[in-house]
Amino acid sequence: MSKKKLMLHEFYKMKAEGRKIAWLTSYDYPTAQFAEAAGMEMILVGDSLGMCVYGYSGTIPVTMDQCIVHCEAVRRAAPNTFVVGDMPLGSYQVSDEDAVRNAVRFLKEGGVDAIKLEGGTRIISRIKAILDAGIVVIGHIGLTPQSSGQMGGHKAQGRTVESARMVIEDALAIEEAGAQMLLIEAVPPEVAGFIARKLKIPVLSIGAGPGCDGQLLIVSDLIGQFTAFTPKFVKKYANVAETVTKAMKEYVSDVKSGSFPSDEHCYHMISGEEEKLEDLIREYK
Ligand code: KIV
Repeated sequence: MSKKKLMLHEFYKMKAEGRKIAWLTSYDYPTAQFAEAAGMEMILVGDSLGMCVYGYSGTIPVTMDQCIVHCEAVRRAAPNTFVVGDMPLGSYQVSDEDAVRNAVRFLKEGGVDAIKLEGGTRIISRIKAILDAGIVVIGHIGLTPQSSGQMGGHKAQGRTVESARMVIEDALAIEEAGAQMLLIEAVPPEVAGFIARKLKIPVLSIGAGPGCDGQLLIVSDLIGQFTAFTPKFVKKYANVAETVTKAMKEYVSDVKSGSFPSDEHCYHMISGEEEKLEDLIREYK
């Protein structure tokens, strides 16, 4: 029996009952199929696809068109999972109108259930504009990779009282604006846990400790496929890079030695055709 797609009110119920929400990124059809089969409740088509799929050094070059193509593939693969589209840099910074136009594209073309965008108090008008268009909005605060230049790199936030206050103010402003969920990235558990208890909306963590209402990881980190660097908050559940490289090395070796393909990998002539084939070959000699 296929699993039931959870909607917003069910995530609120989970928070109220202390049941944790499992959230993972996916960017392509097969991975999203695995995520749905594994019982993932939410999938994020993150702009981390810039690094995990395209090999960029960060998320900055990622475009709306790239995000939409990946959302479409994930939606096809995971029809019964709550899919979130991640608004890339440039898709909501310029104006409220731009933000609404691009958020609408995520729903109409990408088929997602909600959008996520980075930033706190300074993007409140964008959040309200997208909400006014009837779209479910997930805020993203703490470490926000799209503005990591201003943060002096990919650094954990909220580690001083002054910085913790800014994270808390961002969280309060986002809930007040009406966003339906919040993601906190790379913030101490004491700060994120306090926010999760304080807010009525579900608060998800990526590197923000166990006190939140659920967890998000990047699939390429979780399965050990992304090898450039591994953030402190990642738990690696598999080593796909090692497994796949080993398999490919064996293939290279089999091709060189001639042990692949063997008879079992070959198509054979339909019975009765062999002799006629010999005649055919003779014609060409
Ligand atoms: O793009 C993404 O995967 C994200 C996570 C880092 C939270 O935004």
